[in-house]
Amino acid sequence: MASYQYHEPAKDFSPQDRTAIRIFTSLIEEAEAINWYTQRIEVESDNEAKKIIEDARDEEYKHFSMELEWLIRRHPKWQQYLKKILFSQGDIVQIANKAEKEIGS
Ligand SMILES: [Fe+2]
Repeated sequence: MASYQYHEPAKDFSPQDRTAIRIFTSLIEEAEAINWYTQRIEVESDNEAKKIIEDARDEEYKHFSMELEWLIRRHPKWQQYLKKILFSQGDIVQIANKAEKEIGS
């Protein structure tokens, strides 16, 4: 059984924790896939192959978004930060620092 995803003894986690850890791990893998596909798209010269890779990358956007949504539904403070930072306009660091002051760390 794979255990690379655990940084603490696996036996100490509840079934709910294990599910969350699986989703965190999947989220990381989706981000890696998006990165890898994006790199391949950048260097691919065959337009038909490029479209196939773009389609695969776009599918990973959906997977990443679903997993992120699953996680943030279970982390209220994370929700608070995302509500203030995602889709905002302007300097991201300033927006995040303002959010931190409002939300507290
Ligand atoms: Fe995926």
